[in-house]
Amino acid sequence: MIRTIVVAKAKNNAIGKDNDLLWRLPDDFKFFKEVTVDHFVILGRKTFDSLPGLLPRRTFVIITRQQDYVAPEGHFVVHSLEEAFELCEVQHSLKEVFIIGGGVIYKDSIDKGMVDKMLITEVDAEIDGADTFFPEFNEHEWNEAGRIHHTADDRHKYAFDFVTYTKK
Ligand SMILES: NC(=O)c1ccc[n+]([C@@H]2O[C@H](COP(=O)([O-])OP(=O)(O)OC[C@H]3O[C@@H](n4cnc5c(N)ncnc54)[C@H](OP(=O)(O)O)[C@@H]3O)[C@@H](O)[C@H]2O)c1
Repeated sequence: MIRTIVVAKAKNNAIGKDNDLLWRLPDDFKFFKEVTVDHFVILGRKTFDSLPGLLPRRTFVIITRQQDYVAPEGHFVVHSLEEAFELCEVQHSLKEVFIIGGGVIYKDSIDKGMVDKMLITEVDAEIDGADTFFPEFNEHEWNEAGRIHHTADDRHKYAFDFVTYTKK
């Protein structure tokens, strides 16, 4: 099973503040939807809480330490990353799963060497005052497999690149 991170991060690695995103970039949302639709997504409980609701055609695997946490019908609660991967790979025989945040879950999955691919939207901005960051990762361990530039325009305050990294 391929384990793929999806994230949008600023040049200073900022990804969130006050349990919300730092920008509204419609074409990045579109990309996120295209990548994750009809798949399972693994996420921390705080990121789940930050969403406006369930995203259609996505199955959520929510990670929490709360033993009494109940997932919405058709979705799953687990208590570790390992349990999340086991649910996806062993119980559901998935070929690929997407890790969609937030900061704690990205760091834990990278530090444990559990990530095969990263789809990083590199936003051309330095954001002050953020409280959540994407972790530093060892660039020597990753190949840049693709990069597509998107300019800033009326709908996008910042320019950004869609970058694909694969583990060496
Ligand atoms: N820019 C982006 O692409 C992007 C993507 C996703 C999220 N975000 C942003 O990131 C922020 C949220 O990230 P965050 O780092 O604060 O939180 P998070 O990673 O979404 O969730 C943290 C929570 O996950 C659970 N958890 C973490 N490690 C665990 C473990 N080892 N075992 C069991 N449960 C565990 C705990 O839930 P309990 O407290 O319930 O026990 C913990 O409080 C928001 O601002 C959001 O908007 C940005």
